[in-house]
Amino acid sequence: MSLPDLGTFALVNDRLDRLSDYPFTRLAALLSGVTPRANAEPIMMSVGEPQHQPPAIIDETLRANAHLWGKYPPVGGTPEFREAVGAWLARRYALPDGLFDAEKSVLPVSGTREALFLLALLAVPPSKAGRQPAVLMPNPFYAPYEGAALLAGAEPVFLPSTRETGFLPDLDALTPELLERTALFYLCTPANPQGAAADAAYLERAIGLARRYGFILAVDECYAEIYLDKPPVGALQVASGLNHGGPDHKTGPWANILVFHSLSKRSSAAGLRSGFVAGDPELMSRFTRLRSYSNAGMPLPVLAASAALWRDEAHVEENRALYRAKFDAAEASLKGRYGYYRPDGGFFLWLEVGDGEEATRRLWAEGGIRVLPGAYLTRSNPGEANPGAPFIRIALVNDAETVAHACSTIARILG
Ligand SMILES: Cc1ncc(COP(=O)(O)O)c(C=O)c1O
Repeated sequence: MSLPDLGTFALVNDRLDRLSDYPFTRLAALLSGVTPRANAEPIMMSVGEPQHQPPAIIDETLRANAHLWGKYPPVGGTPEFREAVGAWLARRYALPDGLFDAEKSVLPVSGTREALFLLALLAVPPSKAGRQPAVLMPNPFYAPYEGAALLAGAEPVFLPSTRETGFLPDLDALTPELLERTALFYLCTPANPQGAAADAAYLERAIGLARRYGFILAVDECYAEIYLDKPPVGALQVASGLNHGGPDHKTGPWANILVFHSLSKRSSAAGLRSGFVAGDPELMSRFTRLRSYSNAGMPLPVLAASAALWRDEAHVEENRALYRAKFDAAEASLKGRYGYYRPDGGFFLWLEVGDGEEATRRLWAEGGIRVLPGAYLTRSNPGEANPGAPFIRIALVNDAETVAHACSTIARILG
């Protein structure tokens, strides 16, 4: 589905024409006219939208703060919100006392999607090293990274993140020529969709490159709380243990780094639209300035509910237990097939099925199971086949019983 041709009347930003249809628009087009068998109850596993009951804390806090709906929220949030986030970061990532100043280094965002997108406007200069700036991202990638890069006038560069590279971009494959013109690097850990988590050595190396070549390292840690065994390390955690400064880069423990966290997955609260950005205080003050022009701010009752959620761990532990049960359920029928593996984090299966689009059509037609073709999350680099084409992504967001049923049906249909 392409956009209507406006002919010679270039009334809009023609960079928009370079965006592909969003993955779910493409999925709807692929499956339009395909009707699941009459006896198949549809099971939606295409969207990463947690289906667990959101914690009661949300409702209670929204009610208790209902008198604040009439107020415009401050762009930087409230001291209470920043304090709750700072305390959570310090706990989760064992940050040394006093190193992280939440007053200067935390911004609330209405879902990390909008912040990840807007970030490119902060990061991309008109040119870098005399060339068009590059924005690096993994391949597969979260769609807004690409849209943000294109609309900011940068060249999106898709870094292979295959089984051979440990499902994360190979940092050793980045050439100095590319790094010199890099303005921004989106890194997702645990990765969507492959679930691979970067280790400390990897993050240290990525931070080193950002500082040496002067770009922003944006670490999308949205899935950091949905892990199966051990909590993945985070970029701030690694940065807190590094030498803070040096002759060839900015100083300060968080220099060049921004991390993105969300309550959508951690607290099964995608509809709350609540996340935060944290990191380099200099970048944060510029981001605040940009956001004061572009964003509405997070409503005060939502800030209060979000602060309460960041203070609570019990509901997150329950969440993780539910996801573990789903992976157990999936494993019972998929282990040993389609390259199944148990990821470090996140709640997706990334299965190699031959032809991802064909498998998606068959699963919908024959089983009423809606998944996403891998090719909709990847781009082909020049001269190469689309690396996502053989894959499908399956979101384990339904209850364990439904997951068990769906996965055995998938195995039966795909053979
Ligand atoms: C990798 C990744 N980053 C960011 C987001 C955005 O989440 P939200 O805007 O709900 O915080 C998602 C949501 O699916 C995601 O998968």
